Parts: sequence; C-alpha cells; structure tokens
Amino acid sequence: MGGRTRAVGLAALLIALNGCRSVQSTFQSHGPAARSIAGLSWFMTILFLIITLVMWGLVGYAFYRRRGSLAEHEPISVTGGQAWIAIGGIAVPLLVLGVLFVLGLQLLRDFPIHGMHGAGKHSQMQYTMKPEIRIIGHQWWWEIHYLNDEPSKQFTTANELHLPVGRPVNIEVETRDVMHSFWVPALHGKVDLIPGQPNYIRLEASQAGEYEGQCAEFCGEEHSRMRLLAVAQPQSDYQAWLAGQRKAGAEPTTADAVEGQKIFLSGPCAMCHQVRGTIAGGRVAPDLTHLASRQLIAANSYKNNDAYLEAWITHAQSLKPGAEMPNLTQFSGEQLHDLVAYLRQLQ
Ligand code: CUA
Repeated sequence: MGGRTRAVGLAALLIALNGCRSVQSTFQSHGPAARSIAGLSWFMTILFLIITLVMWGLVGYAFYRRRGSLAEHEPISVTGGQAWIAIGGIAVPLLVLGVLFVLGLQLLRDFPIHGMHGAGKHSQMQYTMKPEIRIIGHQWWWEIHYLNDEPSKQFTTANELHLPVGRPVNIEVETRDVMHSFWVPALHGKVDLIPGQPNYIRLEASQAGEYEGQCAEFCGEEHSRMRLLAVAQPQSDYQAWLAGQRKAGAEPTTADAVEGQKIFLSGPCAMCHQVRGTIAGGRVAPDLTHLASRQLIAANSYKNNDAYLEAWITHAQSLKPGAEMPNLTQFSGEQLHDLVAYLRQLQ
C-alpha cells in the first residue's frame, strides 16, 4: 500500500514537473497537420463507435425478438435474408473503408510526408522549397543541421529543434545507422528515417510552445530515451535563437571554467564532441557548442543541470545503458566540477 501511495505521488510529481510541456498525445494538436490527423482519428473513432452500437443493437434484437411458433414460420424460405448478407457483409464495409481510404489520401495529399518529388502538382502544399533543416538519427539521439546557402550561417545542434511559429518548415530526415522514426505528435504524423533514403516532412506549429517528440521505431535498447523537444517560437525569438546558435562556443571567463576547458580539450571529450571555435571537432556525438542553452541532456532524457551533467560524464552507462558515451571515471572531483563549469557556460 505504501509503495502504491509513493508511486502515485511520484507520478503526480512527474506530471507537475512536466506541466509546462505538452504531453505526447495525438489528440493535443498544435499544428495544421496534427489537427487534420486528430480530426480523422476522431471521425474514425466515432464512426466505429456508431457501427459497434448498431451491430450490438442488431445482435440484441436477434436475441430478444419474439420467435413465434414453428407453424407461424412455415414455409421457411432458405433464400430469404441473403440481401442483408450482401448489405451488411459487403456494401457497408466497402462504403466505410472506401470513405476512410479517400479521407486518408486527402490528408496525405495536403500534408505529404515522403519525398519532395512525391508531392504531386495537385498538392496544396507543394515542396518547392529546399529543406531548411536536416535531421540525422543516431542510436540514440538526434543530430540537427540548420541549413543555409551561406555556409557561415549553417550550424549543428542536437535534440532540441527550434521552429518559427505559423510558418511551414521543410525538414529532411536521414539516419546514420538503423531505422528510426521522427515523431512530434503535437505537430505532425511519423516519418521514417531509412538508411540511404532521405525522407521529408513539413512541420508547422500554429502556437508558440514546447512539444515533446520521440523516436517511434524500435531502434535498440535505448529507443525509449531517443527523445527530442520541438520549441516553436515567434519569428523574432526564433531569429535571435538562430543568431545565438551561429556563434562559436563562449570563451570561459571564470577560473573554474578556464580549467574545465583545458580538461575538455585535452581529454577524451574533444575526440567525439564539437565545440565550435575550439580544437574540439569530434562529429560522432552531439555538438556541444551551445549545450547550456538546451533544456535537457542525453536526447532529452535528463535535466540539463550540474548534477545530471556530472552523473552523465561519470556514469552515462547507468543513465543510458548501451549509449556510445562511456563512463569517464578518471577525473578527480575538482576536475569534474571544472569540466561541468565549462559546459554550463556554453550558452
Ligand atoms: Cu531511434 Cu527508436
């Protein structure tokens, strides 16, 4: 009983802590594509409810109707009622499935998911623009490239996708290892990340907010911790965010952070991670140039604070077993403190 009370308390606490963000539900839509998908889902749910009710009504009628005597029913017609089999067994299912098929095709036409080339000339939302963002799936995190014709304006980040409100954004999705599936339920349906086959999705958020996303294709042991956060911002905030992210990593100013940078650049961190503006140029792990600006770490699995960063550096394999990040236990307590001080000022 005590255990259950604690569990309920913990669940309530978790809900309270996450209160500021939208839960991952297809019925909480914050974009035109998600709204259409939710509309179709509700239509299907209600339609099937009605059909189920009618069916049970007929079953009830058959069960409780007055049966009468044998004499009343003679002569029994063996061909009678066949029309009802054709209606109930063929015509009604064909009609229902046909309507859903057409509605589904319409939705795909309005909000195409695969292929810039795949969107036909009748599409209301033609893919005429180049992708603005390229998302690359890894076991188990999201690499996010903000593309631009001017190379100096391109940058890379991870796990936190920023979008402008009220404007569709073309996104190309790829994977470097196994299949993943990109899914932000509040904004759109799922799109698969397939090796060697770039796919496309057009995301539009109609309200500013933070929308949680999740890899939706089983991709290994840490599939459930392959999460992301989509942050939809008003245009001016978005531009300010872009400008901030384009900058090189902040130079440390405090003594602790200066020491931490030395440890970062001379130790194993720089082999895998990049901090633009330094010699740390690793590309196999998330870009940390603006790590401190992100809300969460480990593909949005843990809070981005001193405690979790220290835990992540020393015990990543406990927080996310199987991840590429090793347990780095070689640092002294002071070195660890300095390293985190450096990471925390990478705004
Ligand atoms: Cu990536 Cu599941």
